[in-house]
Amino acid sequence: MTFPRCDQTVAWQALKGHFEAHGRGLDLRDLFAQDPQRASRFGFEAAGVFVDASRAHWDVATTRHLLDLARECGIEARRDALLAGEPINQTEGREVLHTALRAPRGQAPHSDLVHETLDQMLAYVEGIRATAGGPAGGDIHDVVNIGIGGSDLGPQMVVPALDPFVHPGLNFHFVSNVDGHDLAAVLRRVRPEHTLFIIASKTFTTQETMANAQAARQWFLEQGGQDIARHFVATTTNVEGAAAFGVTTTFGFWDWVGGRFSMWSSIGLPIALALGRDHFKALLAGAHAMDLHFAQAPLESNLPVWLGLLDVWYRNFKGYTSHGIAPYHHGLRRLPAYLQQLLMESNGKSVDQDGEPLPYATSDVVWGEPGTNGQHAFFQMLHQGSDVIPLEFILVRQATHRDESQWSPALQALMAQQHQVLLSNGLAQAQALMWGKTQQEAVQETVPTAASSGLAVDVLARHRTFAGNRPSLTLVLDQLTPESLGALVALYEHRTFVSGALWGINSFDQWGVELGKALSKDLLPRLATGDVSGLDAATAALIGRLR
Ligand code: F6P
Repeated sequence: MTFPRCDQTVAWQALKGHFEAHGRGLDLRDLFAQDPQRASRFGFEAAGVFVDASRAHWDVATTRHLLDLARECGIEARRDALLAGEPINQTEGREVLHTALRAPRGQAPHSDLVHETLDQMLAYVEGIRATAGGPAGGDIHDVVNIGIGGSDLGPQMVVPALDPFVHPGLNFHFVSNVDGHDLAAVLRRVRPEHTLFIIASKTFTTQETMANAQAARQWFLEQGGQDIARHFVATTTNVEGAAAFGVTTTFGFWDWVGGRFSMWSSIGLPIALALGRDHFKALLAGAHAMDLHFAQAPLESNLPVWLGLLDVWYRNFKGYTSHGIAPYHHGLRRLPAYLQQLLMESNGKSVDQDGEPLPYATSDVVWGEPGTNGQHAFFQMLHQGSDVIPLEFILVRQATHRDESQWSPALQALMAQQHQVLLSNGLAQAQALMWGKTQQEAVQETVPTAASSGLAVDVLARHRTFAGNRPSLTLVLDQLTPESLGALVALYEHRTFVSGALWGINSFDQWGVELGKALSKDLLPRLATGDVSGLDAATAALIGRLR
């Protein structure tokens, strides 16, 4: 399958012309004034996820050119190749089939394997959950997931997000950092007879995970733990590696599941333990609903396609270097970290599929914090700083609290009001970013206080002026449920694929993480011996200081 790289298309040239003529100077306030239908024109919904893209820096002409680009780059054929299991991860010679993990039986490649493993895992999960929190030795109270990157971030994000659905007898802990402070803080809070350790690693060779797993096993034995086979399980593609470590219960997955796309596989074991069979299946079903939308919707109404196109427009034409994720739901507090790996490990590349250096930018920097906390930290810079940084608000219409039924009506009312406060803050920030505040408005506001400040009214007003015209997207879920969260994550996965495909890169390898890993292996013994021969002067001096 050969399609041109984005910069070699007719549509790219047209986009350049459009950018120079209109795109550079787009002002959201003018766009809304000129087009009364703009809010509905740029409102999209799929699988229960609504996206308001009307406050993005684009207009109808931009989107026409972008859709032309998608067609010319063969995005539909590329998507079909992904979903059919063609080996599109060329540098590793692999298929990319995370979508097969959430497809109903018989509807995707590897279906028998996927469903057999899923059934085994869910049967195990139900066994643990049946006695979880109980008094007998061996009843599990605490689940400690030891894994990093894709073997950590998905479960660590989903379990708190779906807190109202979590088994009340189970506590979940996530240990990822090779820094022993991470593991030690968890071990202080658990007892061996009531703890299940999950060693989660696609390769079962990752230095951090192996170090934490060894330390956890040592702690377990020293604390008088019995029955390692019951208290340590593994989720991995390397079943032999897990067996060599001494783990006999292993839930497998396959090399065609990328680490950052693996929460739907056995890497999702903590999620399944937390939620149980039905809700875990609902999470998969939500993702599958988004897969169907991505597979079937025409480009003009295809949500992941729109968002992938926006990424290209922002990065390569508008020149934005980063975007923020602001989930206005405390349960989604780890979503920015999850999306950092998904988007940046996938699309932080600078050669195309043929190894040719790219003449244009790829992944931007992704970061974020939940609202309203971020408002009291970095929003100052978003509103009045010198860079334009698009923001993605995620709002959830209805709150779901785990203990709600036990609350008095008065407390329920207070909590309900807090949710309205949360939503009003999210809405207001998007509004403020777009509208800003003119010098004239600032002057009016400033007059009463100027005298006491000792500054001239117009000077003070300049400090209180907001340029506005700062773009954002607002994503809305009705409730945060397994289905809606599954759909939301799948939306971001497919968006990543779309922008990566347009950029002509392989979104499914991660060679960029290897160099640092190799160098740290060389440095580890040097920290013990002090041998700095052959090292650069900076590293040698730091080793001297750290010893
Ligand atoms: O950081 C690189 C990476 O390979 C990620 O892609 C992966 O999710 C993580 O390390 C953990 O790898 P593993 O699951 O093999 O332990």
